[in-house]
Formats: sequence, structure tokens, C-alpha cells
Amino acid sequence: MRAHLAALVASAGGWLSFEDYMDAALYAPGLGYYSAGARKLGGDGDFVTAPEISALFGGCVARTCAEVLGAVGGEILEIGAGTGRLACDLLLRLESLGALPARYRILEVSADLKDRQRQALGARAPHLLGRVSWLDEPPSSPFRGVIVGNEVLDALPVTRFRRHAGGYEELGVVVVDGAFAWGARPADPGLAAECARRESAAGGWPDGYASELCRRLPAWTAAVTRALEAGAVLWFDYGLPRAQYYLPERDDGTLICHFRHRAHADPFSYPGLNDITAWVDFSALAEAGSHAGFEVAGFATQAFYLAGAGIESEMRAAGEAGPAAAARAAHEARRLMLPGEMGERFKAMAWCRGGVPPLGGFSLQDLRHSL
Ligand SMILES: C[S@@+](CC[C@H](N)C(=O)[O-])C[C@H]1O[C@@H](n2cnc3c(N)ncnc32)[C@H](O)[C@@H]1O
Repeated sequence: MRAHLAALVASAGGWLSFEDYMDAALYAPGLGYYSAGARKLGGDGDFVTAPEISALFGGCVARTCAEVLGAVGGEILEIGAGTGRLACDLLLRLESLGALPARYRILEVSADLKDRQRQALGARAPHLLGRVSWLDEPPSSPFRGVIVGNEVLDALPVTRFRRHAGGYEELGVVVVDGAFAWGARPADPGLAAECARRESAAGGWPDGYASELCRRLPAWTAAVTRALEAGAVLWFDYGLPRAQYYLPERDDGTLICHFRHRAHADPFSYPGLNDITAWVDFSALAEAGSHAGFEVAGFATQAFYLAGAGIESEMRAAGEAGPAAAARAAHEARRLMLPGEMGERFKAMAWCRGGVPPLGGFSLQDLRHSL
């Protein structure tokens, strides 16, 4: 991976944009974090996601899916399904709610994770495996239903920039004495305009302020949702509205790497073995939704989303298995909902079109004014 990245830096003339570096570190065929075959998610991997913590998450998302499918019919498309936990939880809960869709498709870049997903579904929901299929490209034929993406937007490669001498620089990757290091060059006019828009939303930045933005977010989200003619897109991820994301005091951005449950900030450490992520600018995501022809129908913290979507009913159902199961569900709900855990950092956003009623998950809190 290091040799491949060094070759990319050399062939780019000695300076590689961070976006291209992150793209290769995560997705280079056979080498990238998501393309190669190491254990990534779960207790023995690098990080744990909401569906990995608890089936309560999938239970709540299933309730939201049932609301949408009940109104517009159709199917589910999951983007970036990780170990397949959410797919199993969603399908099994939808079955018990009597709202099982005929088809559940998964758009996944990682061959390794596709295998893991197939195995998980074969083990936990073998009778439903026939409904599941995998896609390498976004669907091209129109369909109705729900698109779900949990913690996938944070993996989209970002552009790093810095405020400098009254203007903006783009931070890229150079090789110094055989090691990767940051190298700056003046921002192109398009990037400078994007930076200026964010700086004005944040009320000004000091010299040296560095952060990131995701230039491919609008085109990527439009591409994966284009075929949805009626229904809802549910995005879950860690992130903030723009004015908070780009606060002057958050002066080194939100780039985070994960390696065996340790979070760190050095994207040049063990490239290909570390996950590299950045927080989601939910204002940019809302703009992308509007441009893609959706109504931004809801934006709430994960805690309020789960409360509105019915986590209490999910906990009661889980608790029917006995006191130990009830205690476990309470513990898991705390991890999903407490402010110091996933409750506030993680947000839920819904994009809707074509006759979707107001969704329960967004009935208790409406943060759209903050976008
Ligand atoms: C952080 S994991 C989240 C997995 C799962 N959604 C969960 O919550 O446990 C990111 C997932 O998105 C997939 N992924 C990353 N980039 C993708 C892309 N551009 N298109 C489709 N899947 C992608 C990864 O392979 C992985 O399955």
C-alpha cells in the first residue's frame, strides 16, 4: 500500500491531493482498507457501529421502513452493509412486523464484506436469503421504497484545506525522506469558493485553521439515490450542521482514523490497515438532497430518532425474553442514546419524495433549522 501510494504521489508530480490519497488508502483494488480482506468491524475489528452494538437500532429502522413501505410499497436498498448485521436485523424485524419487502438489495464495494454479509444472512435468516441480492453499481431502473446508509458517508474521501495569509490552501500528500507528509498548495478557485462559503457560515477563521470538505458528496449521493422514484433515503452518521462543523475552535477538522478500537488523527500511519473517516457536514448533505430532487423531511440526533421511531417498544419486545435480556437491552439503549456515547454525535437525516407521510423517527425533534 505504501509503495502504491508513493507511486501515486510521484505520478502526480510529487503532490497528491488528500482526496486521492484517502480514496486509494480506502479503495485501491486489493490494497485499500475496504478492498483488502482484514477484519474491520465488530469486537475483533477496528470499530463498532450502531447495528453492531444492538438489534434495537435495526428494530427502529425497520419500523421506519415499514412506515415508508406501507405508504409507497417497494423494496429496500442498503448502501455499505458492513458485516450484514443491519440487513439481518431489518429483514427479521420487518418479517415480524408483517412488512417484509420482496427484495433487499445491498450496494457494497468490499468483496470481503459481501462474503461476510452473505454468511451472516445465511446463518441468521436463511429463509430470507433468496430476497437479498448484491450490486456493484447503483441501480439504474426506477424503484420505490427505502434506501438506508449507516456510517457510509463518513468514508467518502474528503479534501483537506487550510486558511492561510488571507486565502486558502489545499493540503495534499508529499514524500519527505521516504515518509508521507502534508504539503500545501494554493486552493483552486472552486475550492476557495467552497471554503469561503463555509468560513462565512462559521463567522471567520484564524490563520492556520484547517478542516475538510467532501467535494464528491453531491454527485455520489445523487448517483446512489437517482433511481428511487418514491420513498425515503435514511442517512445515519456522525456529523454536524455546517455552522458547528466549521466553528473556529475546531481548528484541525474532524479527520479520524481507526485501528483496533483506537482512534487517532494520523492518516499516514499504516495506510490500508487503518480506517480513515471524516465527520459529515449535514448542511451539505441537506443541500445534496434538495439538488437530487428530495425534500429533506427530517433531521434529528440519533437519540431522538430512536425515541421517535419506537425504541421503547423494541426494548419491551426484547425484554420479553426475560430479565437478563431486558437488562441487556437497557444497557444497549444507553450506548445508542446517551449524549456521551452515540446519542448526540450521531444524527439521522431523511430525504423523501413521492407521497411519504411524516415519519415517527423525526416526530420528537426537528433540527432542520440548524442546517
Ligand atoms: C463503516 S462501515 C459501516 C457498515 C454498516 N453500515 C454498519 O453500520 O455496521 C462502511 C461500509 O460501507 C462500505 N462502503 C464504503 N464506501 C462505499 C461506497 N462508496 N459504496 C458502497 N459501499 C461503501 C464499506 O465496505 C462498509 O461496508
